[in-house]
Amino acid sequence: MKIKLFLTLIFIHIINLSQAQLSPADSTALKNKMQWFADAKLGIFIHEGIYAVNGIDESWSFYNKKIGYQDYMKQLKGFTLKNYDPAYWADLIAQSGARYAVITTKHHDGVALYDSQVDSLNIVRSTPAKQDLIKPLFEALRKRNIKCGAYFSLLDWSNYNYTGFIKDSSRYKIADDYGRWNKFRSFFQSQIVEISQKFKPDLWWFDGDWEHSAEEWEASKVRDLLLKDNKNTIINGRLQGYGDYQTPEQNFPVSRPAYNWWELCMTMNNNWGYHPDDTHWKTPYEVITIFTDVVANGGNLLLDIGPRADGTIPAEDVNVLKELGAWNQRNGEAIFNTNAGIPQGHFYGPTTLSKDGSVLYLFLQGDISGNVTIKGLLNDIKNITVLGPGTSINHKVVGKISWSKVPGLVYIDVPKGVQDKYVTVLKVVLDGPIRLYNGKGGL
Ligand code: GLC
Repeated sequence: MKIKLFLTLIFIHIINLSQAQLSPADSTALKNKMQWFADAKLGIFIHEGIYAVNGIDESWSFYNKKIGYQDYMKQLKGFTLKNYDPAYWADLIAQSGARYAVITTKHHDGVALYDSQVDSLNIVRSTPAKQDLIKPLFEALRKRNIKCGAYFSLLDWSNYNYTGFIKDSSRYKIADDYGRWNKFRSFFQSQIVEISQKFKPDLWWFDGDWEHSAEEWEASKVRDLLLKDNKNTIINGRLQGYGDYQTPEQNFPVSRPAYNWWELCMTMNNNWGYHPDDTHWKTPYEVITIFTDVVANGGNLLLDIGPRADGTIPAEDVNVLKELGAWNQRNGEAIFNTNAGIPQGHFYGPTTLSKDGSVLYLFLQGDISGNVTIKGLLNDIKNITVLGPGTSINHKVVGKISWSKVPGLVYIDVPKGVQDKYVTVLKVVLDGPIRLYNGKGGL
């Protein structure tokens, strides 16, 4: 776990593909390409792999010497997918309200979850599952209009030509054997091309870039390879500076990230893959409050599930997806296709804005009744309703002095009985695009 935390910190590197250096035309093209992602807000991450057989840490268990490599690999024999139902997975993802899904095509253990022609270490050829995990899922997702993302680990601890595979030891140093590193490079790049051509991912979710530099991975070439196949594919930020968006992991940033696009990836308990002895499940309330906070701060949530080795999905994952989906049904207007909300200080909680800026959504966590306040709002309010029940509610402007440019405080009276089970949303319709006063008061 410690090493994971350490590596997490390393991930927070700055994208050096400086978007500031793009020409106006290129930056418009990038913005257009990213639009579906910016509007999507919710994605489901799927970590499926042979580690689900024993229910141990994905790949890291042998790297961190919790299990021997041979024993780890014995899990290949138990990976059956015998109850795998891609249509059910896709239905569940659709039901959650997610607009995209990202699935492991190959984790750090090097086991491909699709029918790779480049390497026999894949679940079609080396496990009793004998079937491709990715192809039918992408088909089922696309039927439901859900975008498809491919997680791919650049580092591959199983590959003989890769530099290392166990903590504190290495197979060789690149400087000592460029030929061997070149073999690895052409191996992983052919897998990427294979995935690109077979599955045409709408999004690439690279991982494991921290073990080598951009030059060593040939990150710029990898980016070009992918864009050549599909100029609209989106690439996450774990490609040593050649990605399109940032991927903070597990912990929500306290202040609003300055990135144009970002996505918090987060587990439902404390593990990415199926891990039956980890019972630290987040509740639907916790997931929904984190989700609203992420969206209010301009990000997406990529929420992870860890199916079992037979392809079934644990009840706790299913429950959160369904509760989140039901909440989205009631409140999705305040989430999807919105923009980040108003800066901190105007309202003590998460907010979002409609695209034209004339509707402000306020998120109230838990069982709140009584007054909530908005500070520094220059607009007049046309009306306020509670999403879901649609109840109209009253407000009062307090302390507005006729000769002062400082707006009054808006007190909104939230009656009892209108609360959502998890997070209540107030829809505040303004007289036009929002205008805020953020001065120090006075004359
Ligand atoms: C980290 C871990 C990896 C996990 C990923 C998901 O990079 O190495 O096991 O798949 O995070 O974000």
